[in-house]
Amino acid sequence: MAFHCEILRRLFLLPALLVLTISGLSKNLAGDSFPIREASVHDLQAAFQQKQLSSRQLVEFYLGEIGKLNPVLRGVIEVNPDALNQADKADRERKMNAPAAGSSLSGLHGIPVLLKDNIGSKDRLNTTAGSLALEGSIVPGDAGVVKKLRKAGAIILGKASLAEWSHFRSLNQPSGWSARGGQGLNPYLLSNDTCGSSSGSAISVAANMVAVSLGTETDGSIICPASFNSVVGIKPTVGLTSRAGVIPISPRQDSVGPICRTVSDAVHVLDAIVGFDKKDAKATRKASRFIPKGGYLQFLKENGLQGKRLGIVRKPFFKIIGDSFVEKAFEEHLKKLRKKGAILMDNLTIAQVDAILDLFHSGELIALYAEFKQSLNAYLKELVASPIRSLADAIAFNQNFSKLEKIEEYPQDIFLNANSTNGIGEVEKEALMNMSRLSRDGFEKLMMENNLDALVTPDSRVSSVLAFGGYPGITVPAGYNRKGLPFGIFFSGLKGSEPKLIEIAYAFEQATKVRVPPPNISTDMIS
Ligand SMILES: *[C@@H]1O[C@H](CO)[C@@H](O)[C@H](O)[C@H]1NC(C)=O
Ligand SMILES: *[C@@H]1O[C@H](CO)[C@@H](O)[C@H](O)[C@H]1NC(C)=O
Ligand SMILES: *[C@@H]1O[C@H](CO)[C@@H](O)[C@H](O)[C@H]1NC(C)=O
Ligand SMILES: *[C@@H]1O[C@H](CO)[C@@H](O)[C@H](O)[C@H]1NC(C)=O
Ligand SMILES: *[C@@H]1O[C@H](CO)[C@@H](O)[C@H](O)[C@H]1NC(C)=O
Ligand SMILES: *[C@@H]1O[C@H](CO)[C@@H](O)[C@H](O)[C@H]1NC(C)=O
Ligand SMILES: *[C@@H]1O[C@H](CO)[C@@H](O)[C@H](O)[C@H]1NC(C)=O
Repeated sequence: MAFHCEILRRLFLLPALLVLTISGLSKNLAGDSFPIREASVHDLQAAFQQKQLSSRQLVEFYLGEIGKLNPVLRGVIEVNPDALNQADKADRERKMNAPAAGSSLSGLHGIPVLLKDNIGSKDRLNTTAGSLALEGSIVPGDAGVVKKLRKAGAIILGKASLAEWSHFRSLNQPSGWSARGGQGLNPYLLSNDTCGSSSGSAISVAANMVAVSLGTETDGSIICPASFNSVVGIKPTVGLTSRAGVIPISPRQDSVGPICRTVSDAVHVLDAIVGFDKKDAKATRKASRFIPKGGYLQFLKENGLQGKRLGIVRKPFFKIIGDSFVEKAFEEHLKKLRKKGAILMDNLTIAQVDAILDLFHSGELIALYAEFKQSLNAYLKELVASPIRSLADAIAFNQNFSKLEKIEEYPQDIFLNANSTNGIGEVEKEALMNMSRLSRDGFEKLMMENNLDALVTPDSRVSSVLAFGGYPGITVPAGYNRKGLPFGIFFSGLKGSEPKLIEIAYAFEQATKVRVPPPNISTDMIS
């Protein structure tokens, strides 16, 4: 689910013939007066209560926006033919103030959610990780997180595009491209990268094609696209959210989390999806230990930075910004964090950070290849029906349909390498031990020795540091470079530190309010 490889990112240019100006973004009104565009979950719930807005109007608005914007942005693969019915049901429940048994008029009741296309839903939507090989496959049930969303009364609006197979087909595949979804584009700068693999989830909330979305992360795939598209992404501690029914990369590293326009929205979604799932029992058994009584909303505190100890590791994370304009913006942000009461511990180091960040030597790729084959084969075997039943079938499918799957342009080297593994053998065991050691002596030691609440870094290059150990993090919009391309600031911490990370991220967001909606789509964005 969600693998992202910074160094291998590619630039995709739009065909020059794209000449359009889309006025859809200006259509702000639904109902009579409520402006939906940029509305938060909190705003939407208030509008529902004051009868300024219905879920049907909300879904109609988003379907309209998807119709207008998605032919260009390609953030959405499929819309749910049942979304309007679900909206009507939510409206009826709200009217009667009598939600269906087991559900409640919670924060997500009547709110449309987009699911990354590797998250299974037992409805008329396909679940394909963007690949034609899974078109028409039938999942045995809703993914664990989807069950929780439905229970909360959320509306499943559709499936978001992604880097095909969550960027785990080739080290050389583009962010945001899949055979079924096409090339997703960054709404802030169409010529630039969306990052991936949860690209469509980020594009779609950024461009107001949906209220909130879910992505998945194995190594960077929530936090990178969120920061590139000027939205908030939470990568939860591995095991806080169920991965059952999600097309996997690695049960050891995969995590499902929200991608939303604000920290508050992301926390509403987090509240709805966390917790034990008997179908992912081994990992989620620990979840209740981490989940605070009363949920996560209580940590949306404007003074959340007060007294927080924040670690700054400049090498190599600040160097690679390589843009003096952005670097200056970051120094300003550090000042702001201090001004809001945080204690900054500067110039810290992570032991063997270069080894940690080197996919080829850290052991990460070795482990992921073997884990991917095992877990994907298990996923495919459980499907009720499927054109493919194993990784080997997927490889054969890609060979059979090499044109449609663009195998010559974006090969399937990861698939082939994974296919040649044979479970967790001696080499994999050694790789796993290396990663545990790097994690313990690196990030964990840094956090403990300095008694830190969070590490602060620009962009998502730090993702591998967190990936090994199953650590959480939150990215928040932090600015736009001279060209208008967004960048984020990233707060990460030890397992189960979501409450502190939310306090920090929310306080930063409220103190800076960096996010602005993307510009209207027009040709001058294609430079
Ligand atoms: C977007 O386009 C609409 C008309 O299509 C216009 O009214 C609005 O001002 C534009 N917004 C921006 C930021 O250019
Ligand atoms: C699911 O995929 C099939 C193609 O196999 C397509 O006909 C159908 O419309 C898709 N479902 C939705 C909801 O888009
Ligand atoms: C963004 O586009 C510019 C060219 O317009 C290019 O120089 C830069 O490398 C791109 N950045 C990314 C991250 O794709
Ligand atoms: C961090 O190190 C740089 C030199 O690399 C130095 O200029 C700066 O003063 C140091 N900051 C702190 C807070 O130690
Ligand atoms: C994939 O592995 C299987 C054995 O598990 C083997 O039979 C098959 O030939 C391999 N496919 C490719 C394309 O290497
Ligand atoms: C690929 O093509 C071969 C030969 O036509 C066929 O036997 C096989 O079933 C196909 N496999 C897939 C997964 O499409
Ligand atoms: C484990 O780390 C050692 C020491 O850095 C290295 O020599 C070895 O190749 C690594 N093993 C694997 C499987 O990555």
